[in-house]
Amino acid sequence: MRIGIFDSGIGGLSVLHEAYHQLPDQDYIFYADTDHVPYGKRDPKEIMEYSRECTYFLLDHGVDAVVIACNTATSVAVKQLREEISLPIVSMEPAVKPAVETTEGEGRRVLVMATPVALKEARVRTLIERVDEEHRVDLLPMPELVNFAEREQFDTPELLDYLTKQFATVQPEVYSALVLGCTHFNYFKDQYRKFFPADTALIDGNFGTVRHLAHRLGIPRQDVPNGDVVFTDTEAMLAHTTYYTSGRLVEDTETLEHFRRLHNRLEEMRKIG
Ligand code: DGL
Repeated sequence: MRIGIFDSGIGGLSVLHEAYHQLPDQDYIFYADTDHVPYGKRDPKEIMEYSRECTYFLLDHGVDAVVIACNTATSVAVKQLREEISLPIVSMEPAVKPAVETTEGEGRRVLVMATPVALKEARVRTLIERVDEEHRVDLLPMPELVNFAEREQFDTPELLDYLTKQFATVQPEVYSALVLGCTHFNYFKDQYRKFFPADTALIDGNFGTVRHLAHRLGIPRQDVPNGDVVFTDTEAMLAHTTYYTSGRLVEDTETLEHFRRLHNRLEEMRKIG
């Protein structure tokens, strides 16, 4: 099958990467809307318009399903897109439910990080209200983290400074789970470990999203071991996927190498859990 995956930028690569672990034999089109990243600080009307462009681009390229690999686009656009399109649309939501389950019997709390737009949208608010019966969930918007990821700044003094300021507003030791409610946040798992205790679970929605995709398409899942999805050259990376940035085919070495490094970083981040 041919599966289309889009995001505002490189965050969605983390979903594609998870798909390589569970559905390695499928073909993919990955679309990063890099002309318009970040979505998370934009007007919802714009996010709707861009999400529609991405989705129709993928449909025009013959996909069997679309994955909205973006919590922000999902929160704004998925309902409308599902009304317009009959093809399966699989989307992302902050994985708050499994996170809340980690607090049971422990008296600890959950911290949900996401973009400012996603945290304001009714879809995410309602999801949290539904599962947070004991009021254990705190919200932390991270407006700049997407830009750090796009610039490939995963371990710079500026990044550390930003994280230090943001996490100074909470008490990391009270959290049994940190929800990565934006796909761009998956690149920084090693950094969160510097602030949060070793027993704080880092929970992203990628595994569940790909499992759901497999279910919708009736494809059996596999379990490619951690450490196995490493690309030593861009040719290997292109074996199952065509990459686009805002409608432009990615074929220049610089961007392909950029994506290859990002995939390899995501494979490293899987070891951190
Ligand atoms: N990666 C996207 C998400 O999951 C949004 C990033 C952005 O602000 O563009 O929410």
